[in-house]
Amino acid sequence: MGRKFFVGGNWKCNGTTDQVDKIVKILNEGQVPSPDVVEVVVSPPYVFLPVVKSQLRPEFQVAAQNCWVKKGGAFTGEISAEMLVNLGVPSVILGHSERRSLLGESSEFVGDKVAYALAQGLKVIACVGETLEQRESGSTMDVVSAQTKAIAERIKDWTNVVIAYEPVWAIGTGKVATPAQAQEVHAVLRDWLKTNVSPEVAESTRIIYGGSVTAANCKELAGQPDLDGFLVGGASLKLEFIDIINSAT
Ligand code: G3P
Repeated sequence: MGRKFFVGGNWKCNGTTDQVDKIVKILNEGQVPSPDVVEVVVSPPYVFLPVVKSQLRPEFQVAAQNCWVKKGGAFTGEISAEMLVNLGVPSVILGHSERRSLLGESSEFVGDKVAYALAQGLKVIACVGETLEQRESGSTMDVVSAQTKAIAERIKDWTNVVIAYEPVWAIGTGKVATPAQAQEVHAVLRDWLKTNVSPEVAESTRIIYGGSVTAANCKELAGQPDLDGFLVGGASLKLEFIDIINSAT
């Protein structure tokens, strides 16, 4: 069975109520392929999740941008996986590089979060990716493999996991990975899953790319054999997100 193309829109910490209305309008009016062909998931900031979920066309899903590593309680400022389930939010992004670098989330902590969120019934978009320094020192494959290993050691069922390969040097910089650079890492990740998890998981797990994806560069990237979609930041706030969704076909 083929891997369904996946396009996520990570709004990050952006938006006012007026801007959210505009983006939802763009999404609801956009001409896109059927949900049998492409899975679309948008990830607004927490405070807008309920309104976006209630207003968005039903074939588009929502995801949170993070959740807490265990059951809720005395963790000021955190949102638990159980709360997302309770609200009917089906998915969550975990391990984004902005959280790894700005908030000190280690690979082990991200792995714990992934395991906990999956156990509560959430689907997870798990992010991995190397910094510029790591790429230049030739350690890209070691870094993304180690980040993936920290997840693999903590979960058994990969059905509800999408891996997002997001090279840190390409995020928000306008410096997109070339299709060949992206394909190379995606192929290594798939091979890592084949060797260390199972050939079936390697074959069925979607590995999507994130980092300065735009309407102008998405088509060529989408043509790479191991690239199963995108996690889009800046461009997911604009009309061009519809073009990116359409790169599935
Ligand atoms: O999660 C998406 C992301 O980090 C890429 O952001 O703005 O470079 O598309 P951007």
